[in-house]
Amino acid sequence: HEETLILVKPDGVKRGLTGEILRRIEAKGYVLVDLKMVQADRDLLTSHYAEHEGKPFFEPLVEFMSSGPTVAIRAAGDRVIEGFRSLAGATDPTTAAPGTIRGDLGRDWGLNVQQNLVHGSDSTLSAERELALWFG
Ligand code: GTP
Ligand code: MG
Repeated sequence: HEETLILVKPDGVKRGLTGEILRRIEAKGYVLVDLKMVQADRDLLTSHYAEHEGKPFFEPLVEFMSSGPTVAIRAAGDRVIEGFRSLAGATDPTTAAPGTIRGDLGRDWGLNVQQNLVHGSDSTLSAERELALWFG
């Protein structure tokens, strides 16, 4: 039994893609254990993206991620961490493979941050840390 944190980022919520993204997670066979809409604040985002503090895209990233509600999802299934990263596709939505969430639904909008619709924890350690941050 493995769990991961998935976020539908503010661009996904604004574009009305929450249902489509949840559909893909469920169609893959993962279980939605818990789900909520969150207006993320700077403190939460600074902890969540601690590994990126100091990078040039950090400030635009925090601004983007606090620009509207995010849907936070606790999802479960065998190898769900790796499996959802695979469903999401590469970070850059312009080059993410077709068939993935980012590749099918995302694109570049000429902004100074990559708006790429979703987040998924990248290891068991970050999944534990991020689930504690977003779900307590
Ligand atoms: P997450 O699932 O959101 O963590 O994405 P990721 O794991 O594919 O990427 P990463 O953790 O490296 O970066 C987090 C977020 O920062 C990305 O989703 C992008 O929104 C943004 N980002 C990462 N790298 C870059 C970059 O080189 N340039 C810009 N503009 N934004 C970036
Ligand atoms: Mg990441």
